[in-house]
Amino acid sequence: MYFPGLEGVVVKETKICHIDLENSKIYYRGYDLEELAERSTFEETAYLLWHGNLPRRSELEEFRRSLAQHRIPPSHVKDLLLRAPRAAEPIDVLRTAVSAMAFGEDLRDKSPQVELARGLKITGAMPYIVAAFDRSRRGLGPAEPAEAGSHAEFFLWALRGERPSPREARALDVMLIIYAEHSMNNSAFTAVTVASTLADMYAAVTAAIASLKGPLHGGANVDASLMLEEVGDAKNVERWVEEQLAKGRRIPGFGHRLYKRGPDPRLRVLRRLARDLAAERGDYRWVELAERLEEYVTAKLSQKGIYPNTDLYAAVIFRYLGLPVDVNLPVFAMSRVAGWVAHVVEYRQANRLIRPTERYTGPVGLRYVPVEERG
Ligand code: CMC
Repeated sequence: MYFPGLEGVVVKETKICHIDLENSKIYYRGYDLEELAERSTFEETAYLLWHGNLPRRSELEEFRRSLAQHRIPPSHVKDLLLRAPRAAEPIDVLRTAVSAMAFGEDLRDKSPQVELARGLKITGAMPYIVAAFDRSRRGLGPAEPAEAGSHAEFFLWALRGERPSPREARALDVMLIIYAEHSMNNSAFTAVTVASTLADMYAAVTAAIASLKGPLHGGANVDASLMLEEVGDAKNVERWVEEQLAKGRRIPGFGHRLYKRGPDPRLRVLRRLARDLAAERGDYRWVELAERLEEYVTAKLSQKGIYPNTDLYAAVIFRYLGLPVDVNLPVFAMSRVAGWVAHVVEYRQANRLIRPTERYTGPVGLRYVPVEERG
């Protein structure tokens, strides 16, 4: 059996995320993602993904406190990100910093509780790592807003050095919920593959960040933002799209391995969020541009199963939140880490080393010729 791209191959049984393509619904642990986006928080959603149930008030408070305790990473990690060259890509700095979080820790215990505690440490520290590197490359010292409430508020505050408005913090919170988990995507599979060797959580998350970087996966949210800038105005959409297709290029923020018969259900939330932020700012440029792209590309390519994906509207939302374009990608990682950790812990419950096979199509029996005789 040969399944290019492992399309349709089931690698594990799961209770984490269900994508109901028929009814255009996504469920985290049985809860409708749209309801979570409306009523929950990233912290509560992460707890749900990791523990399988919504926390009681005291459990949620304890979880939030523990996450907040890990906001400032160990000093060797701080040093590393403050010394990274300004030209480094923020996603590379994040990947390296998460890897370095393993230094000095006794990593032998791989029990679920200990791996979840590592997941909490990583999740807690990611916003600071991303924000402090961005400030450092702008010549600014790190901001450590001790009074920040939510994970989302802490990140925006640590990035800007100023408290964000409650609406901005909530908009990012919703993005973090929406991006937190999406079944056996490439980075979740990468995390699980690494975890299946019984390597630790730091190793699994580091590898998952590396996977997320690619432009066919998370990197698309950076490319989609660059596209918005390049297209510039809704009236240029048709010409720009035609030029790209004529050059054989793919349009960032469109297409998905799963959503071939209709758009991603998460778009309902993201379109609304993008519109709300546009209205708040009185600036509809980016959202109208994305809507026009959606309309034109869908009319042109839906017969091939191409619809917009989350990265199109994430790019719009991140523009309204004023994120530097290349910070879009580590923000995706700050959220998706919740899913990665959940998958690692779940897979280990019935761990089996992931070791597929391949079909050899090369020659055999070639004779070795010494280098001097090779002509
Ligand atoms: N623009 C134009 N044509 C496309 C696009 C696109 N974005 N995506 C796929 N196609 C075409 C593709 O060229 C192929 O055409 P043909 O049959 O004529 O050769 C057809 O659609 C089927 O493509 P595929 O490669 O079989 O589709 P896939 O399921 O392997 O690819 C994908 C999924 C996400 C890699 C792809 O759609 C893509 O490259 N999209 C652009 C990058 C992107 O937005 N990635 C984010 C994905 S969603 C969020 C995430 O995972 O992070």
